[in-house]
Amino acid sequence: MTTETTTPTTTTVLDASGVTMRFGGLTAVRNVDLTVNSGEIVGLIGPNGAGKTTFFNCLTGLYIPTEGKVSYKGTVLPPKPHLVTKAGIARTFQNIRLFSNMTVLENVLVGRHTRTKEGLWSALLRLPGYHKAEDSSRERAMELLEFIGLQDKADHLARNLPYGDQRKLEIARALASDPGLLLLDEPTAGMNPQETRVTEELIFAIRDQGIAVLVIEHDMRFIFNLCDRVACLVQGEKLVEGTPGDVQADERVVAAYLGTPFEGAPGAEEVAEVEAAEAHAGTPSTTTPAKDTTPDTTSTDEEGTR
Ligand SMILES: Nc1ncnc2c1ncn2[C@@H]1O[C@H](COP(=O)(O)OP(=O)(O)OP(=O)(O)O)[C@@H](O)[C@H]1O
Ligand SMILES: [Mg+2]
Repeated sequence: MTTETTTPTTTTVLDASGVTMRFGGLTAVRNVDLTVNSGEIVGLIGPNGAGKTTFFNCLTGLYIPTEGKVSYKGTVLPPKPHLVTKAGIARTFQNIRLFSNMTVLENVLVGRHTRTKEGLWSALLRLPGYHKAEDSSRERAMELLEFIGLQDKADHLARNLPYGDQRKLEIARALASDPGLLLLDEPTAGMNPQETRVTEELIFAIRDQGIAVLVIEHDMRFIFNLCDRVACLVQGEKLVEGTPGDVQADERVVAAYLGTPFEGAPGAEEVAEVEAAEAHAGTPSTTTPAKDTTPDTTSTDEEGTR
């Protein structure tokens, strides 16, 4: 008798290679390689302005990368948002983008437009075809609302939801396109610790449904608890990639993002000079090498409208 052992096969879901994005003289993302495999939750961290959202915009076709290519399950993606979504990549935005005057359920239904033959405009204008598509999609949308715990608020206007619920609704809307890869840009920004824990569980559950996840976040406890792998961007470049343990302990990451400088780290020399001068003058140092790591929940920065 032969015994067969089946080992789960890991496939590369996302393969971004040599991605560079320049805006005039500014290189926001420089030659970044990143893969996400099936079954993985990968974290993307880095100081404010490091290029994390710009990288997401390159992955999702909102920006056409100056250089590099993005493949999803072995196929190079055209840099067009609707084709990227159709291929199987969905995302949420750093600054919540819901249709505030539509209901919670309608927002999820709009997210299904790539999986129905009715288009986005049909959904937004509520044309007759949309109502038919709505009938067939409603069940799936309600399932998703149940999954994120908002089923009792299906008829509420999105704008009336508490902030944490709006972030969850964005996730449900993204899931409505039946993605194989979900990109989350600061999903817990502005959340209290309890809401953050619930979101963490939600992301594990999404992964368990076979959807790979790439997540940007400034909350390091959340990232290191959640992710299988973490990559750190600094000034547009991938500084380090590894397990949460490796990245947490990496002196370059500590110096550039998490705190405390070390010799040779970016900015460490200047900090050392200032500290030495202040020590000489007898004043305490107020300088820190790490850039602001506070989530920018009020940010109105450009996320890729073209
Ligand atoms: N459309 C654009 N035109 C010009 N510069 C841009 C554009 N989008 C982003 N940038 C610049 O690219 C750099 C990276 O910005 P990005 O928003 O990607 O950073 P981030 O890592 O997401 O930061 P945060 O943590 O604050 O969200 C910044 O200097 C930003 O000003
Ligand atoms: Mg950002």
